[in-house]
Amino acid sequence: MKLWILTKKKNCRFYPQRRFIEEAEKMGIELKTVVPEDFEIVEPMQEPNSILYKHRPVELPDCLLPRMGSGTTYFALMLIRYLQRKGVFVLNDDTGISNAKDKLQTIQKLSEANIPIPKTILAKFPISTRFVQKEFKFPVILKTISGSQGKGVVLCETKNSLEDITKLISKTANGENNIIIQEFISESRGKDIRVYVLGGRAIGAMLRTSRGDKFKANFSSGGKVENYPLNPELEWLAVESSRIVGLELAGVDILFDKNGYKVCEVNSNPGFKGLEKATGLNIPQEIFNFLQVRLKGRIK
Ligand SMILES: Nc1ncnc2c1ncn2[C@@H]1O[C@H](COP(=O)(O)OP(=O)(O)O)[C@@H](O)[C@H]1O
Ligand SMILES: [Mg+2]
Repeated sequence: MKLWILTKKKNCRFYPQRRFIEEAEKMGIELKTVVPEDFEIVEPMQEPNSILYKHRPVELPDCLLPRMGSGTTYFALMLIRYLQRKGVFVLNDDTGISNAKDKLQTIQKLSEANIPIPKTILAKFPISTRFVQKEFKFPVILKTISGSQGKGVVLCETKNSLEDITKLISKTANGENNIIIQEFISESRGKDIRVYVLGGRAIGAMLRTSRGDKFKANFSSGGKVENYPLNPELEWLAVESSRIVGLELAGVDILFDKNGYKVCEVNSNPGFKGLEKATGLNIPQEIFNFLQVRLKGRIK
């Protein structure tokens, strides 16, 4: 099997990249890391079995594993679609990635399917703090539409701090920075569950707990991780959410709520350093095994 991994940077020291390279070697998979800038997208398509890479036609791989997540650019998205149209199997496809990249789009899709989610509104500038106060109890969560690793997520304790933050946003981004305002699920303060979904199955889960009094449980911002046993409710929520967003590979963040769970977000490019540590799973091997099964049915 010939596999390309599409990344922002060819950084072999980056944990997932290193792990993919390591496991590909063991399994005899021909793996190459590529960046979008090295390709050309030309319409109408010319050679069906090749693509221009560094200005030369190169043979297509069997599969493409896009690993840019919320950092997927328009060009990268079009490249994924282009390769898919050329017959390359992509995990995930452009639709799923662009749905997941947009947190409101994800929330809307989940809400349509009656998946429990935190109450969410799309902010309109200037933000009416009166309206927010009417709709929510403080504290509230503010999130950038696109982001990862907890970087664009803020807890806003009072109406006054909301006023200050929104004024700051209006001043610095001319109000063009799209954000959502979300109910804070207090039962989940500083902890959540990350479920790893692959090919319609939940293959593992971990409990993430923040250190200190941080409300965000992201592993990348220092959260502790431990294996979390899957149960039917978690599995169903994670697998359904991934399917609804259009992802065959996903990391689903699930919050603890009074009466069960609420789905927080669905990631198209979940990291797995924490998950491997917590669960003992071998994620690259799981992905390669899945790809081998999925490719069996394809006639080239
Ligand atoms: N509505 C919420 N209520 C409680 N905690 C939340 C809520 N939304 C996010 N969090 C916390 O913040 C973290 C980051 O939020 P998330 O939406 O997953 O953004 P990111 O894409 O940056 O990971 C979550 O893992 C969770 O710990
Ligand atoms: Mg998250």
